[in-house]
Amino acid sequence: MWKNRDLIEITDFTRKDIEILFKQADIFLETRLAPLKILEGKIMATAFFEPSTRTRLSFEAAMHRLGGSVIGFSSTAGTSMEKGESPEDTIRMLDTYSDVIVIRHPGEGVMEGFARLAKQPLINAGEGQTNHPTQALVDLYTIIKEKGKIEGLEYGVMGDVKHARTVKDFIKGLSIFGIREITVVSPKKLAPDESFVKSIEWRGIKLNHYEKIEDVISRLDVLYLVRLQVERFSNLREAKEFKGSYILTLEKLKSAKKDLRILHPLPRTEELPSEVDNTPYAAYFKQVFYSIPVRMAILSLILTDIERVQEGLI
Ligand code: CP
Repeated sequence: MWKNRDLIEITDFTRKDIEILFKQADIFLETRLAPLKILEGKIMATAFFEPSTRTRLSFEAAMHRLGGSVIGFSSTAGTSMEKGESPEDTIRMLDTYSDVIVIRHPGEGVMEGFARLAKQPLINAGEGQTNHPTQALVDLYTIIKEKGKIEGLEYGVMGDVKHARTVKDFIKGLSIFGIREITVVSPKKLAPDESFVKSIEWRGIKLNHYEKIEDVISRLDVLYLVRLQVERFSNLREAKEFKGSYILTLEKLKSAKKDLRILHPLPRTEELPSEVDNTPYAAYFKQVFYSIPVRMAILSLILTDIERVQEGLI
């Protein structure tokens, strides 16, 4: 199921796989994320070719809480890639030094190639504009914790859906749980492209596009917001066209259901003003907290037998 498996795409995993993972995350939560020795002697390598705060540090925190050690880099600066070494050779080195490799890379579809090079399991910590499977697992887990279930809820996603990998994997994750319709709110030019729409239709989800959150907010149970992905535009001038084009103010939340929950993978910029933080809708900092038990569950299930994980908790 999980042992020694690469985690490259969310859709490689079944609902049952994910439920096993969430059960394990629940156990870590029940033990209040107490330090354990389940992964004592194991080494996790992190290779981040793009910036990160949450993903890299929560993986590191998870590994430390499980008794393991961490090596790695948070940018290519200071590595021998500055001397011309290829990313592929760099991955080969980490494969020799560690028991699991966590990689973030801006290239599309590069993880499969890296996984073929590595004997150790590889975890995709964000790949181009397409995949961020561990974030999607955190998002799904947060919804279960906040709403008690994933099915039977009305979902909206808002922002730069065209470029953001988090929201695309969130939508794919919902498809695994049988969600059939999702509302997309964005300027037309930031709507998901045709190939993504087709691929998600193939997975059984219809995307309904709107330009104004005010037109749909009253019927949503979960709203997933993403920032403008400025770094994905070919130039800053092009990105500037969309500055201020979607901002979730308190005013726009006036007709929201009382139990609406707002998720955001973070970092945020102007789209999510801090005035929303103190409302009952805000679930994004809880999402950050839930990333620890979920990533503890991912590491422990990939690196050891489930029985050993449970023994380690006794
Ligand atoms: N959610 C997320 O991927 O955040 P980071 O870019 O800080 O890792």
